[in-house]
Amino acid sequence: MIFEEKKINLKDGRTCTLRSVEIRDAESMIEYLRMVSSETPFLLRNGDEVTYTVEAEEQLLENKRNAPREIMMVAQVEGIIAGNCGIVSIGSLRRVYHRCGFAIALKKDYWNLGIGSAMMDYAFYLAKNMGYEQVELEVVEGNTRAKNLYERFGFRETGKNFRALKYDDGSYRDEYKMVKILAVQPQV
Ligand SMILES: CC(C)(COP(=O)(O)OP(=O)(O)OC[C@H]1O[C@@H](n2cnc3c(N)ncnc32)[C@H](O)[C@@H]1OP(=O)(O)O)[C@@H](O)C(=O)NCCC(=O)NCCS
Repeated sequence: MIFEEKKINLKDGRTCTLRSVEIRDAESMIEYLRMVSSETPFLLRNGDEVTYTVEAEEQLLENKRNAPREIMMVAQVEGIIAGNCGIVSIGSLRRVYHRCGFAIALKKDYWNLGIGSAMMDYAFYLAKNMGYEQVELEVVEGNTRAKNLYERFGFRETGKNFRALKYDDGSYRDEYKMVKILAVQPQV
């Protein structure tokens, strides 16, 4: 889905644009993904597992723009892609139609400027407008920054995946499941 662009003021006085991803972002998105995946152990991929070609990335971005119940939002600062977040549909079957998933990441240089909070505010507003009743996510054990932020946004822990991630050094980490209710529909 394509949504309206929004500008926010950052804690350091710069301006950040929150906008729908565009197909021309493909190359920058690959560079961005490779960077965030290398900078933090809290995402699914290792940096060397970002192997998309520009053509495949363009196709993925186009699909996101055309998906009626999904968004991919980028945060752009001084022309650079600082971060992105996404709302994904869990499925179109009626019993799961009310649920969406959420994921977010920012390059380390852009942490703690308020971008993550602004992206979440806007993404959850859009998710509610798309008709979702709840947002779900997973957060890796030890990612206190993200978990605290999610709790501040009204997410509550609903479960844990034991040994969800295995690292190259052979260690494992569990992953918490979290849910935020966006809207409560009357029972019929
Ligand atoms: C998680 C993430 C998206 C947060 O984005 P952000 O733009 O840094 O978040 P914000 O600046 O909006 O808010 C950060 C808040 O957390 C607080 N914070 C910072 N470090 C913290 C910590 N270790 N523990 C608790 N709170 C912390 C900050 O003080 C700030 O609070 P404030 O708004 O009251 O000043 C970002 O850190 C990130 O991309 N991390 C790596 C990828 C990742 O973990 N993604 C989530 C996967 S589930």
